Amino acid sequence: AAAAAVVVHRRMKKSGKWVKVMEIVKDFEEKCATPVSRLKQVSDAMIVEMHAGLASEGGSKLKMLISYVDNLPTGREKGLFYALDLGGTNFRVLRLQLGGRGRGILNQQFVEVSIPPNLMTGTSNALFDFIVAELAKFVSQESSDYEPNPGRPRELGFTFSFPVMQTSIASGILLKWTKGFSINDAVGRDVVAELTEAMERRGLDMRVSALVNDTVGTLAGARFVNNDAVAAVILGTGSNAAYVERANAIPKWHGPLPRSGEMVINMEWGNFKSAHLPLSEYDLEMDAESLNPGEQIYEKVLSGMYLGEIVRRVLCRMAQEAAFFGDTVPPKLKVPFALGTPAISAMHQDTSPDLKVVANRFKELFEISNTSLQMRKVIVQICNIVATRGARLAAAGILSILRKMGRDTIKDAEKQRMVVGMDGGLYEHYTKYRKCLEKCLNELLGEEVSETIELQLSTDGSGIGAAILAASHSRYHAR
Ligand code: GLC
Repeated sequence: AAAAAVVVHRRMKKSGKWVKVMEIVKDFEEKCATPVSRLKQVSDAMIVEMHAGLASEGGSKLKMLISYVDNLPTGREKGLFYALDLGGTNFRVLRLQLGGRGRGILNQQFVEVSIPPNLMTGTSNALFDFIVAELAKFVSQESSDYEPNPGRPRELGFTFSFPVMQTSIASGILLKWTKGFSINDAVGRDVVAELTEAMERRGLDMRVSALVNDTVGTLAGARFVNNDAVAAVILGTGSNAAYVERANAIPKWHGPLPRSGEMVINMEWGNFKSAHLPLSEYDLEMDAESLNPGEQIYEKVLSGMYLGEIVRRVLCRMAQEAAFFGDTVPPKLKVPFALGTPAISAMHQDTSPDLKVVANRFKELFEISNTSLQMRKVIVQICNIVATRGARLAAAGILSILRKMGRDTIKDAEKQRMVVGMDGGLYEHYTKYRKCLEKCLNELLGEEVSETIELQLSTDGSGIGAAILAASHSRYHAR
């Protein structure tokens, strides 16, 4: 009888555990809910901020930065150009041979180098010296076929994917760092000057002809191959968007009216914030403990750097309050950012009947080998909640751009196609996220309008676009 009582007691404890677990899941799901009505409120709020950001400098949390790109590529760009793409945990050096007259890219090489984590929070000189050393290596290894015209320095497009207040097409002041970078002495300085000085220290003769955000590079890259490209969105470590605005709809622009009548705007939408954003206590805690509390709130609910971390925080709560993984919280699960978004993506998309991928990841990452199928299902559910909210909020952002451009309704005659260039690892590799975003955008726009909008993946578009913009802003080459 005593043994039976123990069994019954254990079962009660166990079912108590599941009651608590389901309570936490349900509460989290409710807080992350993104019904269409909510997404429309988010989009309304974003449009208000877009107007405010365009009206005056500092007028909104949305910086709506002027890119100085008032002419997007035509496809006629020609010559040998380079790009340096810095913005996440890796940077790339590219070399492009552009054919001119719509012949596209004749030749393309790149190297990718990961940035040592200590350089992300060190000094400006240390970061730029490291980058330039890689750039110099890349150039020194090229064959003599690539010798550009004698007497002219090689020209470079610099994709620098942080908020920059541009002062021209090839200069700009770093406003702040995002995405886990924090190098204080670089803030407030011209990043092109920092790069150029590092090149001088190294004796590398290259000239920066264009400084661009990755969104602007992606838009340029998309336009190079497709005339209908009018906006670009990055969903990677961070998130942001750029689009083509009418120059006379930018009150804060006091420069000459561009001949095209247009200006590409780097929204810096990652910093968007609104009471309508569905946030849970896990988001608030993650934000409070981050390098940049109170900032990049929209980015923190939808981009790759953070999705895994939110899931980890929910699991920690379940471990603490419902003994989800047993009597103690597995120590490795307590480490911030120990659960990356690639793992979330892999587990969420696990199609094996017993969720083997989930089991294996938990073994590898956290030394947790006792997950039952029921537990694995809950883990997948948490991934689903976080990814769904992120993807749907990203769709609301795209909706805002389309509405701002007046492309969200169709007047009978004009079924003009529109392309949004997309780049970033999250969009590229997390299929469920991407599908969810697309489905939600259809839901928001309706079938008829959706048919005219195409989200087009442009892998590495940000670097390619920068090299192309270096070509169209070349000081030496004919356009
Ligand atoms: C962050 C940066 C932004 C960049 C985005 C995507 O939000 O602030 O400049 O475009 O990440 O890389």
